[in-house]
Amino acid sequence: MSGILDGKRILVTGVLMESSIAFHTAKLAQEQGAEIILTAFPRPTLTERIARKLPRPTKVIELDVTNAEHLARLESVVREELGGLDGVVHSIGFAPQDALGGNFLNTPFESVATAMHVSAYSLKSLTMACLPLMGDGGGSVVGLTFDAQFAWPQYDWMGPAKAALEATSRYLARDLGKQNIRCNLISAGPIGSMAAKSIPGFSELADVWNHRSPLEWNMSDPEPAGRGVVALLSDWFPMTTGEIVHVDGGLHAIGA
Ligand SMILES: NC(=O)c1ccc[n+]([C@@H]2O[C@H](COP(=O)([O-])OP(=O)(O)OC[C@H]3O[C@@H](n4cnc5c(N)ncnc54)[C@H](O)[C@@H]3O)[C@@H](O)[C@H]2O)c1
Repeated sequence: MSGILDGKRILVTGVLMESSIAFHTAKLAQEQGAEIILTAFPRPTLTERIARKLPRPTKVIELDVTNAEHLARLESVVREELGGLDGVVHSIGFAPQDALGGNFLNTPFESVATAMHVSAYSLKSLTMACLPLMGDGGGSVVGLTFDAQFAWPQYDWMGPAKAALEATSRYLARDLGKQNIRCNLISAGPIGSMAAKSIPGFSELADVWNHRSPLEWNMSDPEPAGRGVVALLSDWFPMTTGEIVHVDGGLHAIGA
């Protein structure tokens, strides 16, 4: 059976739990014919345990995306395993507790800086670390955002971090287009992952979807977001870059 990622080699970050968007992305990517490699934070053992639930075995590499040594050794490890890459999935987000949950006006810059480093700047760092692995055929970089056009309840400094991620993606699209590298984001609706559970009052934010989403939104199903990522990794969006595709039940289109 042929899949839309047949023959593609994809690096997937962000597999932590079965509820991770990245886990579903990795699973779908394998089902669609890709060879994948995973990166792990904070510990490879956690990711390795979850990776056993994937259709096929996969190598797991430790990667703290703020660690220059980890980033520097990524190229050689991936080259040895897969020979190169056709796609990269950035599924990483973090903000310290005092940057979330209604503390926007009092968050110290150190916490804002951490949120920006891990959640936004890392799209550039990861892409540059993987750049030598993407050959003449180019590649597709896909990240995950939460619509940064609006101020949301509780989301606080993750909002500006996602706005920075969205802008970073556009600038990467600008600078890497000549190498036929596309950079796009999926803007997902709320999903009850670890990252979401770390936001105090996340249910208040998620409740917006119960009232306003045109399509019935299921917070415990990360698969639609994973499907969006896989579509952008495939050859079915060959002339799309710098784009943000909403997988949010259509909520972004609704005013009230
Ligand atoms: N859950 C949601 O409601 C939602 C909605 C829209 C977008 N997103 C985004 O989707 C992406 C994946 O989140 P998720 O919901 O699957 O949650 P998750 O908790 O499963 O994934 C977040 C990942 O970030 C990784 N991470 C954190 N700090 C890191 C670091 N320093 N280096 C490398 N990796 C690091 C964690 O290991 C984890 O795997 C994030 O960018 C998140 O902001 C989530």
